[in-house]
Amino acid sequence: MSPIRVVVAGATGRMGSEVARAVAAEPGFKLAGLVSRRAAGGRLPGWEEVPVAPTVRELLGAVRADALVDFTVAEAAFENARAAIQHRVAPVVGASGLSSDQVSVLAEEARAAGIGGAVVPNFAVGAVLMMHLARQAARFFETVEIIELHHDGKADAPSGTAIATARLLAEARPEGFRRNVPTREPLPGSRGAELAGISIHAVRLPGLVAHQEVIFGGRGQTLTIRHDSTSRESFIPGVLLAVRRVLETRQFYFGLEPILGL
Ligand SMILES: NC(=O)c1ccc[n+]([C@@H]2O[C@H](COP(=O)([O-])OP(=O)(O)OC[C@H]3O[C@@H](n4cnc5c(N)ncnc54)[C@H](OP(=O)(O)O)[C@@H]3O)[C@@H](O)[C@H]2O)c1
Repeated sequence: MSPIRVVVAGATGRMGSEVARAVAAEPGFKLAGLVSRRAAGGRLPGWEEVPVAPTVRELLGAVRADALVDFTVAEAAFENARAAIQHRVAPVVGASGLSSDQVSVLAEEARAAGIGGAVVPNFAVGAVLMMHLARQAARFFETVEIIELHHDGKADAPSGTAIATARLLAEARPEGFRRNVPTREPLPGSRGAELAGISIHAVRLPGLVAHQEVIFGGRGQTLTIRHDSTSRESFIPGVLLAVRRVLETRQFYFGLEPILGL
């Protein structure tokens, strides 16, 4: 069977370079090309054998691919995914921050092109399970807060995962959550951001990778569900699984949950 040909955008980034190495090493996969704005003369240091281009459109004009894995930034990722769909290459978007309207546009364009695709806010299987379990707990607790902790190179706050978790919790509890609002707040913002009655706190420190706690509070008890990604490797099995699944099913997925069958 011919290998699954994958191109990776954001190739010099922390995630993009990890994914490129993983794809190159994975049996049954072929790293068909890399997209980097730093591609000089069509080559990237360390990837001398792999075609490189500064844009997805340019790369896909030159190489054949089955899937694009994108770990750039939201603005670029949306246009990259659209370019991939136009080439009938299935987009698997890991970059955080696509709006629900953008996800709908991609899903519709992929469907019209007869290909699959995915926008996955979190590829770490453990993190997805953390959200799934938190969702089960939501109906039993009237109060909940989310603390997400990431490395200090992360551009966005709060994380896409924290926002997705809050949305899931809100859906699971239509009567809503009760949120403590201080009567005095000497330092404004100390209760964090708010979504659907849920406080979200973002910690940014060197030494962290990607971590999240969901803390439920009830009478005389708390329930904490915590997930830690201790290295970026945690995202790789989810990325490879998503690529396989979108190519097998030609469906468009939002999140890893439906891909894992949750
Ligand atoms: N879904 C998940 O599980 C998951 C996990 C971790 C991170 N993320 C998300 O993935 C994204 C990348 O994270 P990271 O830590 O790898 O970031 P990063 O190290 O900053 O890498 C991002 C790369 O994207 C490219 N890029 C940046 N701005 C761009 C633009 N305006 N247009 C085109 N390309 C651009 C750059 O590569 P070149 O200079 O080579 O073009 C850059 O190195 C973020 O949105 C992050 O939140 C998602």
